[in-house]
Amino acid sequence: MSNIQLEIHLAPGAQGQALRSDVRAGLEASPKTLPPKYFYDERGSKLFDEITRLPEYYPTRTESAILTENAAAIAADSQAETLVELGSGTSEKTTLLLDALRAAGTLRGYVGFDVDEITLSHAGSMLAAQYPGLEVTGVVGDFEKHVPLLLDTGTGRRMIAFLGSTIGNLEPAPRAAFLRDVRAALKPGDTFLLGLDVVKDPARLIAAYDDSAGVTAEFNRNVLHVINEGLDADFNPEAFDHVALWNEADERIELRLQARTNMQVRIEALDLTVSFSEGEQMRTEVSTKFRRQGVEAELRAAGLEPTQWYTDPAGDFGLVVSEPSQLP
Ligand code: SAH
Ligand code: TRP
Repeated sequence: MSNIQLEIHLAPGAQGQALRSDVRAGLEASPKTLPPKYFYDERGSKLFDEITRLPEYYPTRTESAILTENAAAIAADSQAETLVELGSGTSEKTTLLLDALRAAGTLRGYVGFDVDEITLSHAGSMLAAQYPGLEVTGVVGDFEKHVPLLLDTGTGRRMIAFLGSTIGNLEPAPRAAFLRDVRAALKPGDTFLLGLDVVKDPARLIAAYDDSAGVTAEFNRNVLHVINEGLDADFNPEAFDHVALWNEADERIELRLQARTNMQVRIEALDLTVSFSEGEQMRTEVSTKFRRQGVEAELRAAGLEPTQWYTDPAGDFGLVVSEPSQLP
């Protein structure tokens, strides 16, 4: 394995602190919610990787196809020396961009940024081995908090990429705050590449989040495993059914966990006992779907000017390139 530079912005215990306060706030709210970033421990990242290969889960392969088709143009336009990728995960689609930037002759460095240190360091080592001479850095952090630290990361022109429609997992207010942070981290000449899932037939959307093999259900329940381990809790994950529904008004998929019976759960580290009634649903994740006009308006409101929109022939997924502009 090659060496990569790993920067850790989550102080030891910081993740535990955040887990404690987020879980307490979510379980004391009505209706109950759980914050989605805790899906991604090592097991969660493996389950997500399985999701990306499911026949029903079209976003990953569609985004790959759009990149395959357009990475050369994106690379040539950006002239980026450094590719910074937020929520980089296994960095699988990243190679399409790295290849194109290398072919364009500008590539010098890659910065992966993720909450999951294990997946990040594996992905970084693979890329360092695959691209000799590439300066690979892994940053362990929370993209809702630590994007401002990226201002001085990497050399030359940078492209910040945020793929996989992960932006759809943020609700409107945090999403706007995130986009403003990205804008503030960009210097003149830098670009922002954003991948988004597009509004479509609800039946296809629901199938993508409720696959017949049950992998998404297991991924959803994984947050309970994470809480059991991190907070010494006694959730029985099998006592919760996976629910994926389409919220038409907000144009988003919502993932929930529904209690099969009345039960009490003890969260020892919070000195908290929580009651669930049979059929009670707890929201664990939103996956917002977008329309081009709406996305462009959100980008402009954050001081980002969209310059290119790439999509697949069916218009299922979008990749939008923006550059920093004046804040309106
Ligand atoms: N970019 C990959 C992975 C998407 S899954 C793809 O397109 O397939 C979302 C990724 O974001 C996971 O790797 C997860 O660990 C990471 N992630 C989720 N919430 C995060 C947060 N708040 N800060 C940093 N990374 C986060
Ligand atoms: N951001 C992707 C999406 O919304 C990946 C993802 C996040 C996901 N949470 C998920 C996929 C839960 C399936 C189930 O599609």
